[in-house]
Amino acid sequence: MKILVTGGAGMVGSHVAERFAGKGCQVIVYDNLMRSAIFGSDTKSVEYNWNYLRTKKNVVRVKDDIRDRAALGRCFKKYKPDAVVHAAGQPGVGFSLNDPLEDFSINAAGTINVLEALRDVNPKGVLVYCSTNKVYGDNVNQYPIAEAKTRYRFKSGKGVSEVCSVDMCGHTPYGVSKLTGDLYAQDYAKTLGIRTGVFRMSCIYGTRQFGFEDQGWIAWFAIRFLQGKPITVYGDGKQVRDVLWVGDLVNAFEKFMTGKCPSNVFNMGGGPANTLSLLELIGILQDLTGRHVKVRFDAWRKFDQKVYVSDIAKACQALEWRPRVAAKEGIMRVVEWLMANKRILQHADQG
Ligand SMILES: NC(=O)c1ccc[n+]([C@@H]2O[C@H](COP(=O)([O-])OP(=O)(O)OC[C@H]3O[C@@H](n4cnc5c(N)ncnc54)[C@H](O)[C@@H]3O)[C@@H](O)[C@H]2O)c1
Repeated sequence: MKILVTGGAGMVGSHVAERFAGKGCQVIVYDNLMRSAIFGSDTKSVEYNWNYLRTKKNVVRVKDDIRDRAALGRCFKKYKPDAVVHAAGQPGVGFSLNDPLEDFSINAAGTINVLEALRDVNPKGVLVYCSTNKVYGDNVNQYPIAEAKTRYRFKSGKGVSEVCSVDMCGHTPYGVSKLTGDLYAQDYAKTLGIRTGVFRMSCIYGTRQFGFEDQGWIAWFAIRFLQGKPITVYGDGKQVRDVLWVGDLVNAFEKFMTGKCPSNVFNMGGGPANTLSLLELIGILQDLTGRHVKVRFDAWRKFDQKVYVSDIAKACQALEWRPRVAAKEGIMRVVEWLMANKRILQHADQG
């Protein structure tokens, strides 16, 4: 099997690439290494993963932009992939508010470019699209919540399922551009014959994640703890997400790509059993590192959902899959990885 991974230097993409290359597949990593620029940082981030993948057998790296249709087309024609994991994207809500056009060009236009490039060389191919819970916008705020000492929670104890409406709500430009890609991916399945798995991801975390304040909060907090630098919490820190270890996400992708599951949309996260608030993450990091950093509280960020938890029942059933790595175990692995790669802490954004 030949697999092309857009955004293959990113956190999700590099784990997909490593997994499939390790299984003997030919993997083509396509990335323009723009993560740091997106977050206004002049320090390196995904360049680390790019170099890491250079050492892997079966991996070919192509440094190009998904917005460059000619370059993308050349790459697809050269390698003719059987499957694509489309993980390239601009993942920052803040960036999308500052520059909605650039956000649109990467997330929306970039996605249709990738779908077309695949259709051109392999009209019966498979594509996994990395969508987001942000497609539901502030419709998720209609679910009643309760407040406890360290967290908010959905009163029902259940997560948000795929039937939640994506209409008549505020999304942020990021939510809209990702929803556009999400709808194109669905439509290329319905009307044009590509088998597409749309994964609406909650909070994915893991090693090789270069967190910034605007995105990748688990990695960001862990890096700050190990740097001994202060953390700013926007709101009261009780906001909750379901968190999913990146290896568990790749398991779900693999089940979809190599199995017979028809095109579908899946909410994807750790589910109700793997939820975490910011305050709880700070407590876990204190325990794991034995350190305390200064925590500043600032005003709530506009559009920050108080609670988002995925209902993952559909993915569990259709893909015969479930999350295996508990949040505390995963966070420990992130801390250990950072400790073993201390130069990352020197180069990570100092803020
Ligand atoms: N990590 C999460 O919690 C999460 C949650 C929901 C959705 N997502 C989506 O999953 C995808 C992967 O997320 P991630 O955490 O690995 O992010 P990431 O920033 O680590 O990876 C994205 C990669 O895409 C590359 N890229 C950006 N624009 C590009 C372009 N125009 N051309 C080529 N490459 C480009 C970046 O350089 C980066 O390596 C993103 O599309 C993101 O929107 C992530």
